[in-house]
Amino acid sequence: MNGEPINVADFEALAEKKLDPGVAGYFFGGAGDEWTLAENVSAWGHWRLRPRILAGLSEWGTGAEVLGAEVSMPLLVAPIAYQCLVDPEGEAAMARAAAAAGTVMCLSTLATKRPREVAEAAPGGRRWFQLYCFKDEAITRALMEEAVDCGFDAVVVTVDAPRGGNRERDQRTGFQIPAAIGVPGVEAALGPGRAVTIEQTFDLMEPALTWSYLEELAADCKVPVLVKGVLTAEDAELAVEHGAGGIVVSNHGGRQLDRCLATADALPEIVDTVEGRVPVLVDGGIRRGIDVAIALALGADAALVGRPALWGLAAGGEAGVRRVLELLREELELALALCGCASPAELTRAHVQRAPAAPLYSG
Ligand SMILES: Cc1cc2nc3c(=O)[nH]c(=O)nc-3n(C[C@H](O)[C@H](O)[C@H](O)COP(=O)(O)O)c2cc1C
Repeated sequence: MNGEPINVADFEALAEKKLDPGVAGYFFGGAGDEWTLAENVSAWGHWRLRPRILAGLSEWGTGAEVLGAEVSMPLLVAPIAYQCLVDPEGEAAMARAAAAAGTVMCLSTLATKRPREVAEAAPGGRRWFQLYCFKDEAITRALMEEAVDCGFDAVVVTVDAPRGGNRERDQRTGFQIPAAIGVPGVEAALGPGRAVTIEQTFDLMEPALTWSYLEELAADCKVPVLVKGVLTAEDAELAVEHGAGGIVVSNHGGRQLDRCLATADALPEIVDTVEGRVPVLVDGGIRRGIDVAIALALGADAALVGRPALWGLAAGGEAGVRRVLELLREELELALALCGCASPAELTRAHVQRAPAAPLYSG
């Protein structure tokens, strides 16, 4: 690459150069053969845009509403664990960048900064809290309460990880989260004097979650509870019936069940089932503003990026994330303009069609 990075792929290359192979493997990698990791990206390319012309527009905007509040664009920052591994400021820098970009950052339960610290780092920004549920209900509730007290305005319960996926890159490099890296939010929720290692943290998590558990959690929580990790219409319907305030179509960035549906392929049936009763968001493989446009045209209310934001953080700290988010916003705005839409809300299913199948014979 010559000069400044001009797209997400350039940031990916910069991040890969900068990080230790073990750390890079952890952040870049997926489960098993990484089939789903790759398909998440390629599946957005199975759709083609149907642009409309002579729309008489000279101004375009990417502003949108997500969970009743304005964002500069319907693209949010997904929860990613252990961000201090790539930048000393970690989640604080990520939060400041998301706030500067005018969008939401979702903080992981496995963050290397406490929800309170992140709130203080970016007081003007909008934040959501990603929740892993613990066997000891008091821990789950304490985590949720700290986040809500600090102004996090939604809780995103991740439900696709009753067990960790088989991350073979980590097995090959022998990578383990260094003992010095802590998860202070979990430690605070455990109570004084109860430090835990990363492995102990996973042992404390509850694998056997149920729909009635979700319903209780949503009923008790003062802010909307979104369910992250939905891939089927059946589960989307159950989520709505059991009080979810929103759905995140996600396969954890291909890090859990390899060969499950790519999120671009799961999205349409979920949108059709939910019929606007709650917001539907999607993540996985979004690398271009055009991917965001396709997600919106398929009916998503917003998309999220995980690795692209992380690559920005690794390559250039807070400024790197800001640049990644701004590049994606600019790409989305250009896609809107060239599709004849003044705003993201104008994108509809009529703006997309399935790409023609590749010919069986090339000769
Ligand atoms: C290194 C890494 C760590 C992640 N940590 C979490 C996490 O702590 N909680 C969670 O719900 N999702 C986690 N995710 C999944 C992301 O929130 C998101 O679903 C995924 O990264 C989206 O795919 P993308 O990276 O292709 O954008 C993680 C993903 C990566 C790559």
